[in-house]
Amino acid sequence: MLKVYGVIGDPIAHSLSPIMHNQEFEALGIDAKYLPFHVKEKDLADAVKGMKAIGIAGFNVTIPHKEAIIPLLDDIDSLAKAIGAVNTVVRKNDRFIGYNTDGEGFFRALQEEWKEEIKNERVLIIGAGGAAKAIYFTLLAKGITRIDICNRSLERAERLVSECPYEGKTKILTCNDASKEIGNYDLVIQTTSVGMHPLVHNLPISLEYLNKNTFVSDIIYNPLETALLKEAKKYGAKVQNGIGMFVYQGALAFEKWTGKAPNIQRMKKTVIKQLRGTTC
Ligand code: ATR
Repeated sequence: MLKVYGVIGDPIAHSLSPIMHNQEFEALGIDAKYLPFHVKEKDLADAVKGMKAIGIAGFNVTIPHKEAIIPLLDDIDSLAKAIGAVNTVVRKNDRFIGYNTDGEGFFRALQEEWKEEIKNERVLIIGAGGAAKAIYFTLLAKGITRIDICNRSLERAERLVSECPYEGKTKILTCNDASKEIGNYDLVIQTTSVGMHPLVHNLPISLEYLNKNTFVSDIIYNPLETALLKEAKKYGAKVQNGIGMFVYQGALAFEKWTGKAPNIQRMKKTVIKQLRGTTC
């Protein structure tokens, strides 16, 4: 019987998830469809109840529902619970179980480029919002402990660190101070919205002291190359955009739902093709 999956969010019309998942269902011969569902904040509880009732087999959760959905689910995985956000819901024995594949998605994408084991590297995360939290918690849970954070609001960064159940050696810095030390980091992860429309020409941090040995990863994928990545390339640094994280977070959800591994390269190609048509 046809299984129905989907993504709930507001807005949702421009989500690239449906095309990415539907292509893989078709390619792998899985009888399933993935649909975008526009759900307003006030309707979230009804929507979840309705999805349960009509037999939705699993779904993704995006802005603004990633946190609010938690009390509406039957169970939640420990990492998602620690992060306080769910992006993937799996239906198991008629129960909705919440997961967070954002941090793991980032890690898999990074690992694809990095090749060697990541352990004692010095890491700087720029930003302290939801995405930063998923990445920070996931990296710490994997034993990568030398992670500093800089953010516009230091208070928010302090809160993020204090809420983390995993052990780490983290220094919190202003973006100004972090920029002076940027050359000492092996990996810089940009998680703020600076670089996205309308701030496409802005940098969240100055790269004046960057050197070619630092790997700069920006989780933004629209535009495909942010001002930060453009600038980092001028210093000879290796860079990565957010396509990999987006594709892997989706692939991890796909695997949880179907038990089958989708084709990562094919998913990436499709997403990039879509973005080339729509990039601002
Ligand atoms: P997400 O879930 O995508 O991470 P978020 O939780 O709203 O989104 O977090 C946004 C991040 O971008 C935060 O780190 C935010 O900094 P503050 O905590 O100081 O608000 C950062 N951010 C957003 N707009 C910014 C701007 N114009 N300059 C610097 N940082 C910005």
